[in-house]
Amino acid sequence: MFESFLVTGGAGFIGSHLVRHLASTYPAAKIIVIDALTYAGRWENLGEYANADNVVCIHGDIRDLTMLERVRAEHEPDAIVHLAAESHVDRSIHRPADFVTTNVVGTTNLLELGRQLAEHHTRFRFLHVSTDEVFGPIMTGNAEADTPYQPSSPYAASKAAADHFVRSFATTYNLPVVITNTCNNYGPNQHLEKLIPFMILRARRGETLPIYGDGEQVREWLHVRDHVRAIDCALHRGTIGATYLVGSGDRLTNKQLVIRVCSILDERCGGHHASQMQLTADRPGHDRRYALDSSRIHQELDWHAEIELDAGLRETVAWYLDNAEWMEAARTPDLNAWIATQYGHE
Ligand code: NAD
Ligand code: TYD
Repeated sequence: MFESFLVTGGAGFIGSHLVRHLASTYPAAKIIVIDALTYAGRWENLGEYANADNVVCIHGDIRDLTMLERVRAEHEPDAIVHLAAESHVDRSIHRPADFVTTNVVGTTNLLELGRQLAEHHTRFRFLHVSTDEVFGPIMTGNAEADTPYQPSSPYAASKAAADHFVRSFATTYNLPVVITNTCNNYGPNQHLEKLIPFMILRARRGETLPIYGDGEQVREWLHVRDHVRAIDCALHRGTIGATYLVGSGDRLTNKQLVIRVCSILDERCGGHHASQMQLTADRPGHDRRYALDSSRIHQELDWHAEIELDAGLRETVAWYLDNAEWMEAARTPDLNAWIATQYGHE
């Protein structure tokens, strides 16, 4: 249906899986990837797709209006899939400013680009990728698309603000938007700052596994390849103006999840990695529980998560163990030092 997709943040974790998916599923379409290559983005995440005939990689910042205008004039994409963001809660606590400029101002820049493109392409769509964190803690039941926003962290607040701008462009300018709010994703190529890769790296080094607070916070975990299929469904078949919540139903406490990862490591490498777990100071503003009601995307688009959690975790652990070089290149000592001080672990 679309001739060219503009994917922002395509050198990051979810974006790189999406580019691989789009490039292989729609070989006749052009995939234009914009990424600022921050600490979180690397063209290597695209593997051979970085050099594919139908993929164009542009090193650019979504805060740069001149660059965006150049891309519009040169490529005229008929769909924008927006994932570029500062994405790590601990970083947002440490230094919130980039979260405002990239997640809020950058999103608004892309919406303006979308307005221009929508004038020329009747089929134009803007798909905005958001998070369950905008709803704040869901102590019982599930968040629904119309649950009021109550973001706790600067990251969640910046994503909530971005979502509001997306909806305001739909209401004010009739921009054809679709929003997806997803839960915690996991899988290969996720940056080491996030829970699962961080625990794998530290476990193999014989270091402590820092669990914030009492470790009883509940998160819903979705494999990244299931998520990119959901984005594809929502982009091609979603109702204009709709919000789709994209979850797996697999909800675990952080302690339960880390124990599962440790037992997979034990099977592969021997030892008893869970004994390295250590409760630390809690994350400020740490939300107790997230849970999404994904019934709309199940019913309307017939999308369902397919990768069973244990199988997905096994694949993920294996990928990190087999990609030690990738792990080393993704280390960020500056942040690690701040995190260790903040949470009181070594
Ligand atoms: P990530 O941090 O791995 O990747 C983000 C990418 O955006 C990086 O490649 C980075 O270089 C790029 N980027 C950052 N600032 C930029 C800028 N100013 N201009 C252009 N590119 C820039 O993040 P991710 O985990 O892949 O998340 C992708 C999207 O999905 C984000 O919008 C995030 O809020 C959302 N999300 C992620 C999760 C998750 O569990 N990972 C869950 C819910 C929602
Ligand atoms: P994270 O991967 O940072 O994702 P998010 O904050 O976006 O959900 O963290 C997932 C959960 O794991 C969250 O409740 C915080 C917790 N956590 C720890 O307990 N220890 C850690 O070292 C990290 C990185 C996260």
